[in-house]
Amino acid sequence: MPLYQATASAPVNIACIKYWGKRDTKLILPTNSSLSVTLDQDQLRSTTTSRADSSFEKDRLWLNGVEEEIKSGGRLATCISEMRRLRRESTLTQVQISPYNVHISSRNNFPTAAGLASSASGFAALVSSLAALYALPASPSQLSLIARQGSGSACRSLFGGFVAWEMGSSPDGSDSLAVEVAPRSHWPQLQALICVVSDDKKGTSSTSGMQRTVETSALLQHRIVSVVPERMAAISAAIHARDFNTFARITMQDSNQFHAVALDTDPPIFYMNDVSRAIIALIVEYNRVAVERGGSLKAAYTFDAGPNAVIYAPEENLKEIVELIVRYFPQADTFKDPFGLFGAAGVRGK
Ligand code: PMV
Repeated sequence: MPLYQATASAPVNIACIKYWGKRDTKLILPTNSSLSVTLDQDQLRSTTTSRADSSFEKDRLWLNGVEEEIKSGGRLATCISEMRRLRRESTLTQVQISPYNVHISSRNNFPTAAGLASSASGFAALVSSLAALYALPASPSQLSLIARQGSGSACRSLFGGFVAWEMGSSPDGSDSLAVEVAPRSHWPQLQALICVVSDDKKGTSSTSGMQRTVETSALLQHRIVSVVPERMAAISAAIHARDFNTFARITMQDSNQFHAVALDTDPPIFYMNDVSRAIIALIVEYNRVAVERGGSLKAAYTFDAGPNAVIYAPEENLKEIVELIVRYFPQADTFKDPFGLFGAAGVRGK
């Protein structure tokens, strides 16, 4: 009896142009396009093994060794059934394994308690492992259509490097997919520093937060129509030109506007805390001094739906930035990537 099993992994991605808002909550179709950087290979990854067997009585999934319920009609069930459909529709003449139930085991190689979004890497790894199990010749963009239905931002983790999620316009979601803007090798000097401000679970989930913002924020409409399309074009050009100054300016503006939109939601949503704001002040001051001395921007902060900061910077500035963070946040505990988890360096609040 052959063993039908495959393993795949996918990394976390951090958006520079934020996805916030769904126009279709079931298909997970966004109200705007977004763009992210996928963090380097082997760092902050989810690794997933899927196995199909005729003896399995139902689909089951374990996350970091703990079984999670696969709710019928839920996002996990949707991703699994969409991958089965692709296998059924494929022209493969091998044994039909799509009717078999699957057992899936997924692990994150980073502390789940670090408060870093793991749903993006998790759903991307899940879809990739099922694609390998079913021997599907699907491209990353095709798989992104399915990962998107697990967690929107997951569609961007199917690619490494610089990735756009094009919102698309089709009501069935067939053109709402991830595309590569540039591979990681295009701009290896760009590094990400992760500052773990708090590892508490966030108060408002992205799903309920987005829904409330779509229903109540007037600023979101302005963002969707008048801001994001231009920013997508400008930041893509900056990436192609390796223009850190423009990349940094747009990244910080977009993080600010995402949090402004959260504040404009009724009732308001606060994802950043006082430490997050102090990190912003520090980076703003660091950049101000650099510009005053005739240079250009040296670092860019960005915050997702939580208080943790990600600082993008050219590698040459990283040591100075870590020293600054440690000086102004003396309670922080820095480490030079001892487990290969956090890119060049990580900073963790105590
Ligand atoms: O994919 P979700 O539902 O976890 O939403 C992620 C939203 C942000 O992280 C705030 C922005 C983004 O584009 O990743």
